[in-house]
Amino acid sequence: MNKNHFQRRLGKSALKIPPLGLGTWAIGGLHWGGTDETDSLNAIHAAIDHGITLIDTAPIYGFGLSEEIVGRALKESSKRKQVILATKCGLEWSTDHRQVRRNASPERIRTELDLSLQRLQTDVIDLYQIHWHDQNTPIAESLTTLEILKQSGKIRAYGVSNFSKAQLQECLELGTAQLASNQPPYNLFERAAEHDILPFCQNNELGVLAYGGLCRGLLSGKVGKSTEYPQGDLRRADPKFKADKRSQYLKAVTRFEKIAQRKDCSVAQLAIAWVFQQPGVTCSLVGARNAEQAQHNAQALAIEFNETDFAEIDRALKIEIKTPVGPEFFAPPL
Ligand SMILES: NC(=O)c1ccc[n+]([C@@H]2O[C@H](COP(=O)([O-])OP(=O)(O)OC[C@H]3O[C@@H](n4cnc5c(N)ncnc54)[C@H](OP(=O)(O)O)[C@@H]3O)[C@@H](O)[C@H]2O)c1
Repeated sequence: MNKNHFQRRLGKSALKIPPLGLGTWAIGGLHWGGTDETDSLNAIHAAIDHGITLIDTAPIYGFGLSEEIVGRALKESSKRKQVILATKCGLEWSTDHRQVRRNASPERIRTELDLSLQRLQTDVIDLYQIHWHDQNTPIAESLTTLEILKQSGKIRAYGVSNFSKAQLQECLELGTAQLASNQPPYNLFERAAEHDILPFCQNNELGVLAYGGLCRGLLSGKVGKSTEYPQGDLRRADPKFKADKRSQYLKAVTRFEKIAQRKDCSVAQLAIAWVFQQPGVTCSLVGARNAEQAQHNAQALAIEFNETDFAEIDRALKIEIKTPVGPEFFAPPL
């Protein structure tokens, strides 16, 4: 056992969470070329059994399907009590599923919470997060609603996701709401958060659930120059996966493989462990489509880095990534 096996407090909330959480975006299938329900259920069971006891989902992941699968897994195994269950609100979609828009109004939050509780087959959500900032609803209105829902016992803590430093500052200035956390993108290839979000959260005792630990699989070690993705898989449109950019990222992966060999782990495990050992990060969210991936990823908890490892990883990035691109391409329209 090393320090990665201990729970961490999420901001100033009462929640204690593990450094590694299971992300279930791909389990919803939408934007990930579909999903296999049996594999997904097995992924969830394997994750919990191997110490990944935080599960992050959202209504938008498969238009409810990800939440339903998570709910089914927890119900059939009676594992609900072992898990910190995080979901989100604030995105709505048209009946034909063609349009998604941000809506974090009090009415929408209340409606969504009841639907999520049903799909997840639970009485309470541990962490309820506003998925993306909604410019049409004053932050104060959304947070006041979340505070009331917390007092009603339907949620245990609430946070936000994809909020900028200025938006977080606004949340804190309201003074009335006990915001627990933010959820920004953060992984070896997407490090923008360390310039402002992570130090801000650390200085203000806000928890951080960093998402995309494997950069949508680019850091898994299984992506090659000619790897192709099926129709409906967002990686077809991801600028990092386009040939010109992909080659520089794969060169960095090759360098990481050498460091991983020395640490006796895979490049995926190296990438995952790197995230939850960064200052300001409470938990790294990583997706897994099946039990094998979940179990493999959980073993990242065994890895500890020293200053030389961190420096070598940074050097690899500096040498290879000349024209970085961010994850902005998947943000829902304002
Ligand atoms: N708040 C937000 O706006 C937001 C946005 C994005 C993500 N998130 C959260 O963060 C979570 C994690 O991010 P993510 O799922 O987008 O991406 P990720 O964790 O970077 O990558 C997950 C994908 O990598 C592949 N993979 C995982 N483990 C592997 C292994 N051991 N070996 C080989 N391949 C492996 C799988 O896809 P393939 O098998 O198909 O390659 C898996 O779906 C999400 O599920 C979600 O909960 C939140």
